[in-house]
Amino acid sequence: MIVGVVHHKGGVGKTTTSINLSSGLALRDRRVLLIDMDPQAHSTKGVGVSMENGHLSVKDILLKEANALYAQYWSGDIREVIRQTQRPGLDVVPSEFHLSQTVEQLYSRFNRNFRESILASSLESVKDSYDYIIIDCPPGLGILAVNAMRASQFIVIPSIMSRLSIEGIADVLEVMERAKKGRFESYKILLTLVDPRLRMTNEYVMEELIPFKGRVLRTQITRNEAINQAQIARQDVFAFAPGSRGAEDYAHLTQELLRLWESR
Ligand SMILES: Nc1ncnc2c1ncn2[C@@H]1O[C@H](COP(=O)(O)OP(=O)(O)OP(=O)(O)O)[C@@H](O)[C@H]1O
Ligand SMILES: [Mg+2]
Repeated sequence: MIVGVVHHKGGVGKTTTSINLSSGLALRDRRVLLIDMDPQAHSTKGVGVSMENGHLSVKDILLKEANALYAQYWSGDIREVIRQTQRPGLDVVPSEFHLSQTVEQLYSRFNRNFRESILASSLESVKDSYDYIIIDCPPGLGILAVNAMRASQFIVIPSIMSRLSIEGIADVLEVMERAKKGRFESYKILLTLVDPRLRMTNEYVMEELIPFKGRVLRTQITRNEAINQAQIARQDVFAFAPGSRGAEDYAHLTQELLRLWESR
């Protein structure tokens, strides 16, 4: 199962969810590959992988197709890019800052359909080696997010409890339908950074979500200091603070999604 974690807005918990869902699945003995599609490389850093000179990254995968055409650059396989993490069962396709330049090259050199399908075709060779492939997207709905959506069989849209974040969901759905070339029903909304004390705001947001009934995951991720601290320590929340509220929330999320995905 390939799962994209997407939202138009920044800072809504895409990376936090990608890392901790991936780790939660690995803890439950699933083989997991986390793909970092963000030039900010927060997922890469968050699972403790450091990039030194010579390390390949997701930009090399995206440019691979260019090489096939221009035969002047790396023409390897996604397997050469995959790195192991500290968490047994969890591998990562790392990212780095130069991915943004790659995006410019893809725009200038390739037609739309081709440049939006590169990730999907690169995953063919490793798809069967993993139970779950989780793709952390950058903010925005550009070529990187569209590549992730096209490759994904399921999409998680994390959203914070704010009007703008909820409004942004409609943008995600619009781009998703274009990426999928038609209606796409396999998606869920995840409420993150929830602060139960903000009662009025939470009530407002829940009302705004009425049109998305049945689409909102039952698990909510509460705002929890351990989650932030774990990111600073470059660990998942289960390793950093196993007894924390954050670990509990992400364990619930993992269970809820596993029920959804594996009871089919
Ligand atoms: N439940 C939470 N409790 C406390 N802090 C959180 C929680 N979820 C996320 N954060 C913190 O909020 C910030 C933004 O989260 P995150 O990096 O996951 O968002 P993002 O959507 O990936 O952002 P970007 O769009 O920049 O990639 C981070 O510093 C993260 O540690
Ligand atoms: Mg992020």
